[in-house]
Amino acid sequence: MIGKAMFPPRVHLANTPTPLQKMERLSRQAGVEILFKRDDFTGSELSGNKVRKLEFLLADAREKGADTVITCGGAQSNHCRATALAAIKAGLSSLLLLRTADPGRPPAISGNILLDRLAGSQIVWITPEQYRARDEIFEREARRLHGEGKKAYIIPEGGSTVLGAWGYVDAISELVLDLKRLDGDDLKPTTVVCATGSGGTTAGLALGAQMSGVDIRVVGVNVCDDRDYFVAIIDDICRRFNETWPGARATGIPPYEIVDGYVGRGYALSRPEELAAVRDLVRLEGVVLDPVYTGKAYFGMLAELARDRGVFGERIVFIHTGGLFGLFPIAEQFAELV
Ligand SMILES: Cc1ncc(COP(=O)(O)O)c(C=O)c1O
Repeated sequence: MIGKAMFPPRVHLANTPTPLQKMERLSRQAGVEILFKRDDFTGSELSGNKVRKLEFLLADAREKGADTVITCGGAQSNHCRATALAAIKAGLSSLLLLRTADPGRPPAISGNILLDRLAGSQIVWITPEQYRARDEIFEREARRLHGEGKKAYIIPEGGSTVLGAWGYVDAISELVLDLKRLDGDDLKPTTVVCATGSGGTTAGLALGAQMSGVDIRVVGVNVCDDRDYFVAIIDDICRRFNETWPGARATGIPPYEIVDGYVGRGYALSRPEELAAVRDLVRLEGVVLDPVYTGKAYFGMLAELARDRGVFGERIVFIHTGGLFGLFPIAEQFAELV
């Protein structure tokens, strides 16, 4: 078990524990037991995985006396939307660096952008090239806020930091209790599958699985970049986690796998077959995924299962990490599918 005393300070924002639901029809179709951990239920406006990390990051921001959090992401970033809304609940303001091809002509106010705007976040539009040098822009904006008498706290991309990783260590401790309710004390080996977008969720799951001592295999399906890119990020988070909390009983880099090959047309770009998989799951189970993260990871999981039904063992827990608001800005891409 992962003792609660080990956890860093947090602000309680997420609606947890989230339910673990059996997907009976999907399981029959795939020929393997599939359950969904409904992290899209962490909140309505806060829906998804990011709020689990933000509980720890915003507690740290407050402890450090910050009044404004700065973070970054793609134009329709779920992480930025969750940060903007969670910051309000934690009594803080937010500034978002959002990536778009032409900052002079930012995208329409829809989906997550609408929520960012409703939340009153300051938005700074930046190009993909500027995004690559975002650390400098973070510093520039922090200095500017300082000049206005404010104190900024920088949250790196996706909240995927060593502190944010605790969010998914916590999710594993929840999952162990969920599995005990199903199996009693003799837990079946379980493979957890999630979308990997900036690495923090996968790192937290891997650390949590190792700390729990339970037979949980962690598989991330990357939705951008490639396996090597994420292995470097995740290993680094795990290494620094062990250095920062040597008493947390995570030792060495915990095992995890990244299944590469499902980025498709690129980050936030969908192929018709991915969108069809999202539609089919709605029609089968009444569960809605998002096109950018969970839909791609789910498509990848099904493709792997089609090649080898046993690839993930007897039981799969797919983590539904949210992202629903990302569906609406691409509604017209579904036109021929629905
Ligand atoms: C809905 C959703 N699922 C999964 C992820 C991936 O999580 P992580 O960034 O921790 O790899 C993200 C964010 O990147 C997300 O917004």
